[in-house]
Amino acid sequence: MTSTLRPWTPDDEPFLWEMLYQAIHVVDGNSPPPRSILSDPAIAHHLTEFGAREGDDAVIACDDGVPVGAAFCRRFPDDDPSYGSVSAEVPVVGMAVVPTHRGKGIGRALLMHLLDRHPIMSLSVDADNHVARELYESLGFVEVHPDGTAVTMIRRT
Ligand SMILES: CC(C)(COP(=O)(O)OP(=O)(O)OC[C@H]1O[C@@H](n2cnc3c(N)ncnc32)[C@H](O)[C@@H]1OP(=O)(O)O)[C@@H](O)C(=O)NCCC(=O)NCCS
Repeated sequence: MTSTLRPWTPDDEPFLWEMLYQAIHVVDGNSPPPRSILSDPAIAHHLTEFGAREGDDAVIACDDGVPVGAAFCRRFPDDDPSYGSVSAEVPVVGMAVVPTHRGKGIGRALLMHLLDRHPIMSLSVDADNHVARELYESLGFVEVHPDGTAVTMIRRT
């Protein structure tokens, strides 16, 4: 499999919403949440009118031209912080790779690509999402504080 990375375009919006859904961590043994969770304002504000705000950015991984993963980031104002927000200046990153393509280096490539453009980003990751945490730590993210069952992490440079 050869995957390629490309910048997002507005046509990728449905795929970005799918990746946002898949980025919601499901604890082993639990059922995935209903897709209606994407309407929850605390989730939806990651992608609502994506591209309209300065700093909105995303990269798409494709296999044979078909999107298989994405990393996306957005800044959140102080009056509408997101999970993983540390300040209005620091973009919050989210990401997912479709299940068939995980563990093949795509997630690392996506995040490295976005970090090239935004070296300082923060995020929220479930404490028991060991795969994602290992990836983030290996790319320089450090824990800022716990947040319920999640932790907020930041990568400075
Ligand atoms: C987290 C995720 C994006 C990583 O993408 P990926 O393409 O599977 O990851 P990669 O293959 O690039 O691996 C990157 C690192 O993740 C870790 N990792 C990947 N697969 C792993 C596994 N099966 N077990 C343990 N660690 C693993 C390793 O640290 C790996 O580093 P390495 O390349 O040095 O081995 C992907 O697994 C995913 O979509 N998970 C579900 C959604 C999610 O959790 N999103 C993040 C929400 S905060």
